[in-house]
Amino acid sequence: MLTAQENAEFTQVGPGTPGGDFLRRYWHPIAASSQLPDAGTKPLTILGESLVLYRDRQGKLGLLGDRCPHRSAGMVYGVPENEGLRCAYHGWLFSGSGRCLQQPYEETEDPTSTFKDRVRIKAYRVEEMADMIWAYLGPDPAPLIPRWDLFTRLDAPREIGFGVIPCNWVQIAENALDPVHVEWLHQHFSNYVYERLDQPELRKKVQHHTKIGFTLFEYGIIKRRLLDSDTEEHEHWATGHPLVFPMMLKSGNAAHPVYQMRTPIDDHHTMHFWYSAHYKIRDDDMEVQAHTTVPFYEVPIPTLTDGGEPPWSLVDNNSGQDSVMWYTQGQVTDRSAEHLGLSDRGIIMFRKLLEDNIEKVKRGEDPMNVFRDAAKNVCLELPVERNKFGPGRYRPGEVRGGNTSKYSPLLKEAEELVGAASGAVPKSQF
Ligand code: FES
Ligand SMILES: [Fe+2]
Repeated sequence: MLTAQENAEFTQVGPGTPGGDFLRRYWHPIAASSQLPDAGTKPLTILGESLVLYRDRQGKLGLLGDRCPHRSAGMVYGVPENEGLRCAYHGWLFSGSGRCLQQPYEETEDPTSTFKDRVRIKAYRVEEMADMIWAYLGPDPAPLIPRWDLFTRLDAPREIGFGVIPCNWVQIAENALDPVHVEWLHQHFSNYVYERLDQPELRKKVQHHTKIGFTLFEYGIIKRRLLDSDTEEHEHWATGHPLVFPMMLKSGNAAHPVYQMRTPIDDHHTMHFWYSAHYKIRDDDMEVQAHTTVPFYEVPIPTLTDGGEPPWSLVDNNSGQDSVMWYTQGQVTDRSAEHLGLSDRGIIMFRKLLEDNIEKVKRGEDPMNVFRDAAKNVCLELPVERNKFGPGRYRPGEVRGGNTSKYSPLLKEAEELVGAASGAVPKSQF
């Protein structure tokens, strides 16, 4: 339980708030590169700030305030130039660093004018790495974009799923420290959904949690679980799943790892990226190797039907189930009204880590996972469980039911190819 003031401090993302200042010490993923492949603009709100992402005609990215400093016209209508973005209204041109490069009429009437040198537009750093676009909205000097392990291994087919979750980021992060929900939400509730969908053959075996554990490690918190008669040698306990502080979860397994990455839009909305790699699909030497751009796909976020019914066909998968649990807690859940139990030890640990790191930023220190030494930022290894199917070919249905697999274009393609190669009709939920 938190006081209303503590809750506000943890959850506010805007500039000048403790939580917002903390989040401004990190690079955040804001789009897949394939969402802005050519010269053009894309409106985005990040950490409560309305911005326009653009790519100029040389392929360089910029991230500017969404209003022109002349008379506030929307820069989303801006025209990308060879360098910079030109406001559509009167043609003022701005560079990616926020300088005004041209004011066509002013320069015609007064060629000696220095007016443009005194005008700036808000501008933030933006870079591309591992087929994602990253933004930094914090103070100089900017740190490095962390090179988490999957971002350094680009030789496997990858894909990027995306959805906007209509709630605050902390609710989503807390879910990553909540092992017990898997048994209830992704097993018992899943089975109820299959009953509602009249698909009893898809019911899952329910595995009971007998013990949960949490370990602070260099990059965050590892959550562990014992299920049924598992011992502590089992990788659910020995390896576990890491929450990479503050807001990335590595899930899946060694053959099909997934980074669940979250970027706050504002206090009440969060971008969610599911960044997956499929190593066994590469090994199988299937046509999917030919992908040159990383596929991007939208993950539907379930909402009630017009009649107030749960949309059963959208909550038969992990991402759909998680999303509705996150946002039905409220846009910013009231943490003064909760009753935390023994199952919530990981959540308490996360909140302590969050509090400590917000305090660090208040003291002018770097929080956890801010990297400034390139020699240490080569490949940041994160633990992952092995694949229970073992090495070798991808098997139809191998990652069925995981995260966003239902919507994955690569898995759909792989299922079809494997099915065709074996002569079998793939039994698929896709
Ligand atoms: S409003 Fe942008 S150039 Fe006039
Ligand atoms: Fe979940």
